[in-house]
Amino acid sequence: MRINAIEIPDADIYEIVLDHFPDLIHSIDDRGTIVYANRAAERLLGYRREDLLGMDIRQIYADEVLEEMERGFRDLKRHGDKVVESVLKTREGDRVPVEIRSFGIYDDEGRFLRTFSILRDLREIKRLQASLIHQSRLAAIGELASGIAHDINNPLTVILFSNEMALREIERGTTDPRTLLEKVKVRLTHSERASQTIQKLSDHLRNFSRGMAEHQERVDLADVVEDAIFITSHRIRQADVQVQNRVEKGRFLTLGSPNQLEQVFVNLIGNACDAMAGREPRLLEIGVAPAAAGDANYWRCDVSDTGTGIPEGLREEVFQSFFTTKEKGKGTGLGLSIARGIVRNHRGDIMVESTVGKGTTFSVILPRLREEPPAGASDQPCPAGT
Ligand SMILES: Nc1ncnc2c1ncn2[C@@H]1O[C@H](COP(=O)(O)OP(=O)(O)OP(=O)(O)O)[C@@H](O)[C@H]1O
Ligand SMILES: [Mg+2]
Repeated sequence: MRINAIEIPDADIYEIVLDHFPDLIHSIDDRGTIVYANRAAERLLGYRREDLLGMDIRQIYADEVLEEMERGFRDLKRHGDKVVESVLKTREGDRVPVEIRSFGIYDDEGRFLRTFSILRDLREIKRLQASLIHQSRLAAIGELASGIAHDINNPLTVILFSNEMALREIERGTTDPRTLLEKVKVRLTHSERASQTIQKLSDHLRNFSRGMAEHQERVDLADVVEDAIFITSHRIRQADVQVQNRVEKGRFLTLGSPNQLEQVFVNLIGNACDAMAGREPRLLEIGVAPAAAGDANYWRCDVSDTGTGIPEGLREEVFQSFFTTKEKGKGTGLGLSIARGIVRNHRGDIMVESTVGKGTTFSVILPRLREEPPAGASDQPCPAGT
């Protein structure tokens, strides 16, 4: 159809543009009723536009994000604009992750009239993100495998040596049976201990390669940090870094995917080792505390190193995909962007503080998991700092 643009009223042009916009656009009034929806909204949500208009906005958001959405809506009525991630619910009940850019429209006296929101479908981005996380995990497994060969070698030598000595003592047959029995017992005990060490290593490996479970579970940050230190142990040894892990078990709980969170710390520890290579001292400290004084809702897990530091102008850039200062073949520049993606998916964030020439602290902020005290437990105050 050919139309003379001059003949089209402005309002129709806007309508055409909005309808050809690939992102979902909606507008709601102060009660949360949908008063505008474009064609992308029909496509994504599976409703006809006539059905969408007049619908309560709460009907197109997933149940688990409704509370957060109400809070965002209240904020928007008071202030200007907002960018958040959320989850839509389609007519069929499918969930669609979206990034929402919303702004409020107010009358001359500043009274709220309606919101306008542009929603971008994040399904493809999330899929790519998951495959990146998976690939970076595979890379870490490769590195771990070379480290583990070294770790297994020591206990294996102990086993072989102990067995050989026990055999020799039996073959010699010069000592009386009682002393011989004692000697063989000592050798077997050494051999047993060394076998247990290998068993522990193999358990760790099995856990680490158990896949990228997406489901949420109760996670103890102490386990996450301990596993990440284990996975990077080869790198830590190579860089000759001293590690101080101050994260106590059983105190710092969050909800999430242990594998993905481990991946965050594997990245941070690896970066810290690289930043400290060839410098003095080489100290890596990891600790957890409440995110801010009096804030009982989030944990802050600090990973601090005594490395080169990051110049002020680069502190935001380091989180960009493919930003790296490492030589070709050493770094992909994806570690921190993947780490930030994972943490934000857990409703947290990563921040960085650094002094050039002194060192860097990456802080991972994660929501705190509150557990119901077991029935009958007394109402003990939390240990200091929680
Ligand atoms: N602890 C740190 N101290 C100093 N610089 C750092 C630190 N962590 C990250 N950086 C800087 O940020 C850049 C990006 O880090 P990121 O982890 O995203 O990628 P990378 O380590 O270069 O590559 P990859 O993680 O794929 O091996 C690094 O190249 C480095 O310049
Ligand atoms: Mg890295």
